[in-house]
Amino acid sequence: MKLNDHARFSTVCIHAGQEPDPSTGAIITPIYQTSTYVQEGLGQHKGFEYGRTQNPTRMALERNIAAIERGTAAFAFASGMAAIDALLTRLESGDHVVVSDNTYGGTYRLFERVRRKFGLYFTYVDTSRLDAIERAFTPKTKYLFIETPTNPMLRLTDLPAAAELAHRHNVRVIVDNTFASPYIQQPLALGCDIVVHSTTKFLNGHSDSVGGVVVLKHEDDVERMRFVQNAAGAILGPMDSWLVLRGTKTLPVRMERTNANALALAQHLASHPKVTRVIYPGLPDHPQYELAKRQMRGFGGLISFDVGSLERARTVLPRFKLMSLAESLGGVETLISHPAIMTHASVPPERRAAIGITDGLIRISVGIEDVEDLKEDLDQALS
Ligand SMILES: Cc1ncc(COP(=O)(O)O)c(C=O)c1O
Repeated sequence: MKLNDHARFSTVCIHAGQEPDPSTGAIITPIYQTSTYVQEGLGQHKGFEYGRTQNPTRMALERNIAAIERGTAAFAFASGMAAIDALLTRLESGDHVVVSDNTYGGTYRLFERVRRKFGLYFTYVDTSRLDAIERAFTPKTKYLFIETPTNPMLRLTDLPAAAELAHRHNVRVIVDNTFASPYIQQPLALGCDIVVHSTTKFLNGHSDSVGGVVVLKHEDDVERMRFVQNAAGAILGPMDSWLVLRGTKTLPVRMERTNANALALAQHLASHPKVTRVIYPGLPDHPQYELAKRQMRGFGGLISFDVGSLERARTVLPRFKLMSLAESLGGVETLISHPAIMTHASVPPERRAAIGITDGLIRISVGIEDVEDLKEDLDQALS
């Protein structure tokens, strides 16, 4: 199928990168669960040699996500962490990366405990402040690695402004777009250079697959990443590729409902007497509400709120019935978590305190259930 150049977002999500299966006409790309391909003769094959190097299901997903993020090419990996790690292979010993200080704990762990000993250097700054980014740049800085909104403080970075600043210093901008999803913001169109996702979250959307993807804008990054994906081999398998490809078809409708549910729940929590603070970019008291309105389509599915203390969090969390206590986010079902003990346990306590991750902070990943049921569950748990 040839999509028009002006095909709109939902149409791109459903159709981009996919053709009816040439042998049967199956409208859905099959799961090519094969490790190798029979060759017609020496050096004669159909473009498929070995499952790590080429897989039609994975390649359909890669074309699909490249189109959704408006990139030149995409490469799918076994997890979001594997995708982020693949980006570091572009660096050389002595190179430096400036990173959002409130980045995902696993990213911090990878940078500090796996990659630093190879001579890479990372500086963590509040990327919502352009002056802080600029001060952190050194002549060895190669990447600015941004998360916006951050997890769980939901701080935003002005992407066009950060990209403009980074490019003046010859620095490439990577955006981990996991938290927003490409429905809400498309960093490449906003001037950034590389997007990375944990597809485990909104892109797949059904909590049944772990994966990651790198989306590239510049041609000169593409061949290098193709080489690394094959050489290091942390590929996404065919079954998981198929699941994510199914997930992206419904991304727009899931995100519309996610946005609506999350805004309603954030407003509900903001007026709740047992809640000391609500952080959500769609509330007018969020310090970057104006930027959120400008940069995002809706305000996303993550809400953080504070119940005042660890003791109170320990009382409230086991009482949820509909919302499940679990790590991860971006699925159709609503999840709650306690960042200090769960997702951010690998971040040292003093860094947690500096970022604002208090012991009473609870994060909700809002699903697409009926919002009245979600409100009732919150009320009974907080009561
Ligand atoms: C923002 C963000 N980036 C990356 C990752 C890592 O992805 P994965 O768990 O698929 O390796 C996560 C996981 O929670 C995340 O929240």
